[in-house]
Formats: sequence, structure tokens, C-alpha cells
Amino acid sequence: MPRSELLRQVENARGLYCMLTDQIDRELLGAASNLVAVSTMAVGVDNIDLVACTEQGIPVGHTPGVLTEATADMAFALLLAAARRVGEGIDHVRNNEWGDWQPDLLLGADVSGSTIGIVGMGRIGASVARRAAGFDMDIVYTGPSSKPDVEAEFGAVRRDLSGLLAVSDHVVITALLNAETYHLINERTLGLMKPTAVLVNVARGPLVDTEALVAALRNGAIAAAGLDVTDPEPMRADHPLVALDNCVITPHLGSASHRTRIAMADMAARNLARALNGEPMEAQANG
Ligand code: GLV
Ligand code: GLV
Repeated sequence: MPRSELLRQVENARGLYCMLTDQIDRELLGAASNLVAVSTMAVGVDNIDLVACTEQGIPVGHTPGVLTEATADMAFALLLAAARRVGEGIDHVRNNEWGDWQPDLLLGADVSGSTIGIVGMGRIGASVARRAAGFDMDIVYTGPSSKPDVEAEFGAVRRDLSGLLAVSDHVVITALLNAETYHLINERTLGLMKPTAVLVNVARGPLVDTEALVAALRNGAIAAAGLDVTDPEPMRADHPLVALDNCVITPHLGSASHRTRIAMADMAARNLARALNGEPMEAQANG
């Protein structure tokens, strides 16, 4: 729904079922004098002013859990695609460039047996770690708290971001976007990565400084990137990032399996219905 339409229609609404592209801010809340509850069909709530909602006694529902595995699958899809140059291979065939088999055609980086750095060890990070263990990868992670379960189960080692970037063959971002994590990956931190490394982002675009990433992919500071989220989003086809052969971009499809999107839609509906009936939400992001 266009913003202007949303601002108009929200006036009479008791419940708001929103998408991650809707900005739920003080302006919107000011226009929504009858609003009792907000429910987003997403796990991420960076588009919602949680402080303002809490001040006004408005519970905010979200959908953790049901999209964890689908999103971790997408992280691995992008890691494998970027490391093993799947996109370039597809282009090669489509462009009718496929000639004789060559020992050195489109060589990429190994994923199995390498070291993966997981930035943000929440639910999705832990599911990425489980997949990485299946690929015989050494696992390092960074995040605000240590995760003894993941350390015990997969031998994951917690490091600070600089230490993680220095030792990781590949880096996967699953962290929350907030004031502390905005542009966590920037010119300086890209410079700490191995020149052979792949960077994957399945979290939120603004965790990565796009201009710095374009430069790093151009000048070989890192080998490749696999992005399911970008800044800006949507990313237009004429953006410099899209032109780079060593960047694989998908349009925010992390949770886009049939089963997962139905589960998210159902959970978001249940969260809203419960709040409107005065019951606790299944998953509330504030308060
Ligand atoms: C998708 O990005 C989500 O937050 O659910
Ligand atoms: C590759 O196709 C091989 O047979 O090694």
C-alpha cells in the first residue's frame, strides 16, 4: 500500500498488519488514533519504531522461528553461488560461450572444509552453523552474547569482528539491523577480510556500506558477494553493484518458500487476532 493511502486508512484501524517495507514511525502512529496492535509479516522489526509503539501501549507482533530454516538455506544458496560462480556459469551458457571443457574455466573458492564467519548468532545464525558443520567447516561467530549451545554442538568459537574477518574464508551476515550494526561492514572492515573471501548478507542491506562493497569487489579486496538484501532496496538494474560479475543478488527472498511464507502469514494473522482479543501475541517484539 502506498504510504499516503496507509496514512489515510490507518485512521480508523484498530489493527495494522504490515510488511517490512512499511515504515511504522511516529508520523504513522500520530495518524492512527484507534490503533491497538501492529503485526508485521517478518521477523525483522527495524522498520518499526518499537519505542514509540511501547510508549503508546501498542504491542508489535513479528514472526521469529518459522522462517529460520528457509533463510539459512538462502544464505547457503548465495554462499555456494558466489563462491562457485554459479551466476557467471549460467551467463556463460546463456551467452553461448560454452566451449571445450577447460581445467581452469571459472574457478572459484572452496566452501566445504573452509572457515565460515557468522556475524550475528541468533536463530538464523545457528541454523547457518548447522549447515556449515555439514560442510565440515570451522565456525567462528560474533555477536553481543556468547552462545554456549552452538559452541558445544558445532565447535563454534566466538571472536570480535576484526578477529572473525581475519580468519574467515567466508562471512555470512545474519545480524539484526540497529544503530550499532549500521554499516558494520565498511571500507575498514572489508579491508580486514581475506582477498579470497565471499561476503553473504541475508539480514538487512544497511549492515553493509554499499559504496565500500562496490569498491572492494572492483579492486579485489574480497573475491565475491552474495546478497539477498541491499541498500537501497529495491536495487535497480543500473546500479553499479548489479553490473559486477562477482556479485550475486536476489530480491529479498530469504523466507520465500511456499511453506514458510504461509507460516509467516498465519503467524502474523494470529498475532494480530490475539492482540485484538486482548490476549498475548505468540511473538511480541516490544514490551
Ligand atoms: C525478512 O526479511 C524478515 O525480516 O522476515
Ligand atoms: C568432472 O566432471 C570429472 O569427471 O572429474
